[in-house]
Amino acid sequence: MTVKIDTLLHESRRFAPTPEFAAQTAATPDLYTDAQKDPATFWADQARNLLHWHKPFTKTLDWTNPPFAKWFEDGELNVAYNCLDRHVLAGNGDRVALYFEGEPGDSRSYTYAELTTEVKKAANVLLGLGVTAGDRVAVYLPMIPEAVISMLAVARIGAVHSVIFGGFSAESLRSRIDDANAVLVITADGGYRKGKISALKPAVDAALQSNDSSVKNVLVVKRTGQDVQWNDRDVWWSDAMETASPEHEAESFPAENPLFILYTSGTTGAPKGILHTSGGYLTQNAFTHQNVFDLKPETDVYWCTADVGWITGHSYVVYGPLANGATQVLYEGTPDSPHTGRWWEIIEKYKVSILYTAPTAIRTFMKLGRQIPQKFDLSSLRVLGSVGEPINPEAWMWYREVIGSNLTPIVDTWWQTETGSIMVSALAGLTETKPGAAQVPVPGITIDVLDDDGQHVGHGNGGLLVVTQPWPAMLRGIWGDPERFKETYWDKFEGTTGAKDGPLYFAGDGARLDHDGDIWLLGRVDDVMNVSGHRLSTAEIESSLVAHSLTAEAAVVGAADETTGQAVVAFVVIKFSQAEIASHEDIVGILRAHVAQQIGAIARPRDIYIVDELPKTRSGKIMRRLLRDAAEGRDVGDVTTLADTMVMNTITSQMKK
Ligand code: WT7
Repeated sequence: MTVKIDTLLHESRRFAPTPEFAAQTAATPDLYTDAQKDPATFWADQARNLLHWHKPFTKTLDWTNPPFAKWFEDGELNVAYNCLDRHVLAGNGDRVALYFEGEPGDSRSYTYAELTTEVKKAANVLLGLGVTAGDRVAVYLPMIPEAVISMLAVARIGAVHSVIFGGFSAESLRSRIDDANAVLVITADGGYRKGKISALKPAVDAALQSNDSSVKNVLVVKRTGQDVQWNDRDVWWSDAMETASPEHEAESFPAENPLFILYTSGTTGAPKGILHTSGGYLTQNAFTHQNVFDLKPETDVYWCTADVGWITGHSYVVYGPLANGATQVLYEGTPDSPHTGRWWEIIEKYKVSILYTAPTAIRTFMKLGRQIPQKFDLSSLRVLGSVGEPINPEAWMWYREVIGSNLTPIVDTWWQTETGSIMVSALAGLTETKPGAAQVPVPGITIDVLDDDGQHVGHGNGGLLVVTQPWPAMLRGIWGDPERFKETYWDKFEGTTGAKDGPLYFAGDGARLDHDGDIWLLGRVDDVMNVSGHRLSTAEIESSLVAHSLTAEAAVVGAADETTGQAVVAFVVIKFSQAEIASHEDIVGILRAHVAQQIGAIARPRDIYIVDELPKTRSGKIMRRLLRDAAEGRDVGDVTTLADTMVMNTITSQMKK
């Protein structure tokens, strides 16, 4: 495990919520004691209190066939109804649901009543295109209200969405569409990013080029007005919406009805389609969104900066906040367009009170300097959240002091695409926080830190983070691959004493318990990188690199990066026959562009080093650990298990060229 833990044991700063804050919070310590008594009953209570059930459930949890859990199995609900109609029926139709801010500065807002009508119309559009319950719909859109409307419309008719981040390439899009056999793609002509128009439709056209695709129609939102190629299967969103009926009654679906698939990287092979279902997922997201952030739906203005293409956007832009009837900001663009104060300007404009973002953004702002946020009125902020990667104490303190006026609670929330919902976090109104710690499991969640034999490591020690009991928002599987689901998450501790009471979910993260038993995340322990809070697999980028005709071999590592947490660094061996064809500089440029084109710009390596050989063990396994040392500029560690102990010397000298 490569872990930086030197400083955390010395962290003695503590930040309790102010007495005023603590006095107004709805969360009470009873949440923990109630949940401890019986987590399943606790979640059943939450499900009944927080959601509307068309048909109440009588069974809470079925864990008789692990790792396949069923929550609230005989209950029926409609996820979109829970996020929309019921708020209108409760008299809150005039409350703003979305304040949309486009990157070029255009803005529009939707009340709950308006959003409900839009989703009803969109549901009718989908039905009109022949989409039925259980069908998969791919969503490839910028961060615009139509993304939220599309997801909710799909959910409303009991279909399954697969949102694909707009930064992914045509190749990535195609493999995801094919894996899920999507019948419809919802996209846009393009979106605005970094002050420029960035096209989306051409990637969809390219992905569907072969004509043997399962996709019958492409619904196209006009966002930028740029020229698009038009095909028989294409339908303009605006044309379809204009004639769609605003009446649509939400039908109920079983609690375990699939809600969405979201692809995420793993250690090997193609991205996994993580499957989430309805009742349990919505319960845990409503609960955590309310209690972690101390949400007051009547008064708060909430802003989660994540794109809907990631799990954070699913759980904490769409489902959690809307289930809770929150008012939120939706921003299309990047933090620095058209100027570096853009986020703070938005917070001032909408009087944002809860901000949920990622450490990589905070570190970028730190580098730019506090004088930028200080030009804006940020006094509306009362809770700050962090997600995606460990937040270093320095960034945590800056976030609190500069953005939070040295007053606001910070909640560092640990979770994953697979967990569906926040698992480890402070509760803003209750927890005395430590800068850099993710703190404690949220009520109803049971976490442990174990050694390789499945033994609890005890306070003061590091090990592997596991979830010991099923939880409502847990993934229900990997789309089409139950074996891979078991192997990837549930086999690690099988047969160990730690698993005697049932299978343990292994998260892939290292963690440490401090002397109080609080949890500190230490990063991934497998070949998965975390770049700007987004998971990328070394294997996937390596296979993209070797797919290029220039490349003989490639090894990819995640190297520490001041801003993005980790950065992609690749070591490539060029085919002998190709080596003289182009300069090193050209080759690096070609390969960087190739990865961006195959996977997406987020996967483009920061550095590519052309080397003669890769460090391998006698059995031929690439020793990425040594390459990571080299990429991070450290002395290279123990090389005695290498087949050729000199190879690292050659590599480090070639890196200097
Ligand atoms: C991986 C999951 C959950 C939404 C964003 C990423 C890392 C996430 C934290 C945190 C330390 C964190 C873990 C995890 N991670 N949040 N607060 N502290 N690490 O979702 O792409 O599924 O990645 O992100 O390594 O396993 P994801």
